[in-house]
Amino acid sequence: MKSDRVFIFDTTLRDGEQSPGFGLDHDAKLRVARQLEVLGVDVIEAGFPISSPGDFEACREIAREIREPVITALARAVRKDIDAVWGAIQDAERPQIHIVLSVSDIHIERKLGLSREQVLQRGVEAVEYARSLCNEVEYSPEDAGRSDPDYLVETVERVIDAGATTINIPDTTGYCLPGEFGSLIRHVVENVRNAEQAIFSVHCHNDLGLATANSMAGLENGARRVECTVNGIGERAGNTALEEIAMLLAVRQPLLGLETGIATSQIVPTSQLLTALTGVQVQPNKAVVGANAFAHASGIHQDGVLKDRLNYEIMRPEDVGWDDNRIVLTARSGRHAFRHRLGRLGLEVPPDRLDHAWEEFLRVADHRKVVTDADLHELFSAAV
Ligand code: KIV
Ligand code: ZN
Repeated sequence: MKSDRVFIFDTTLRDGEQSPGFGLDHDAKLRVARQLEVLGVDVIEAGFPISSPGDFEACREIAREIREPVITALARAVRKDIDAVWGAIQDAERPQIHIVLSVSDIHIERKLGLSREQVLQRGVEAVEYARSLCNEVEYSPEDAGRSDPDYLVETVERVIDAGATTINIPDTTGYCLPGEFGSLIRHVVENVRNAEQAIFSVHCHNDLGLATANSMAGLENGARRVECTVNGIGERAGNTALEEIAMLLAVRQPLLGLETGIATSQIVPTSQLLTALTGVQVQPNKAVVGANAFAHASGIHQDGVLKDRLNYEIMRPEDVGWDDNRIVLTARSGRHAFRHRLGRLGLEVPPDRLDHAWEEFLRVADHRKVVTDADLHELFSAAV
């Protein structure tokens, strides 16, 4: 029987950091890595050391300082990349070398110009070499989502025989549908002869908005590790968002029976640290960490949530690190929310002046997007 523990592999500092606008310098990478440890991720992918001396150094410092999670870094299936990874992470408490090599015919023919057998050979040699250096080796057959499932099985068997300890199945282009990706994971887990010798992981991209759904499908079909990033940043449309997969597993735990080691109250602080360091805002309607994720604006919803938050909230904002749920006052708000906010601000308008105050509020709300606490003070301080 599969274990109930899902391991969270964070690649914010590699797949996330490599995307335009999200570059982080050495110190910023270290700050994110420290916060990822506090957040409770199981694996930190610190970078791609062969890419630059700066990235090599940042990976090396992360490996030396961060003690709890496994520290990994990415290599193509060539010795110079593997040597760079090992040079950067060998001082980690728990180092892991991550090797990527294509598996789809599209990539094999159009990117590598090799035969399937040549690719297999290269992958096996890379894993054997990496295992001669490090006990933990992850192998990612790139573009597995568009590969021939039987060739994928053959590849996975061969690299496990060569010593790979984790097999990560990526939907590199974000092409798969959840049912399709789930079936692919099941096909691999059930048909690979030596499957019990490795952990199976998934790595999904969000080109069609399905990264989290596809990762979930992978877990439902035998994977026990998910690669993800804070705020879902990553190549093109990004990767599976850490906050989405962690809260999905937490909120639906009674149904799914799966657990992570994530300290969920650290989710928003981590998201906000990344935003502050990159200067890139999260879209307001982003699940879990967007500014509107717990904001209630329409009168019907505000009234419902003030009566009982269960009416419109499936998780508590404080459980993911927000201060409180946010009742936003707009022209669509109702009297219940208006009175509630006045009360919280200590602006107790006398009952005979409430109708007038309400009309005054609507007049202002009609030409402002949001009526702030400062606006309310300005409008009603004199009335109390
Ligand atoms: O998207 C991808 O295939 C990758 C691999 C390195 C796992 O990022
Ligand atoms: Zn990726």
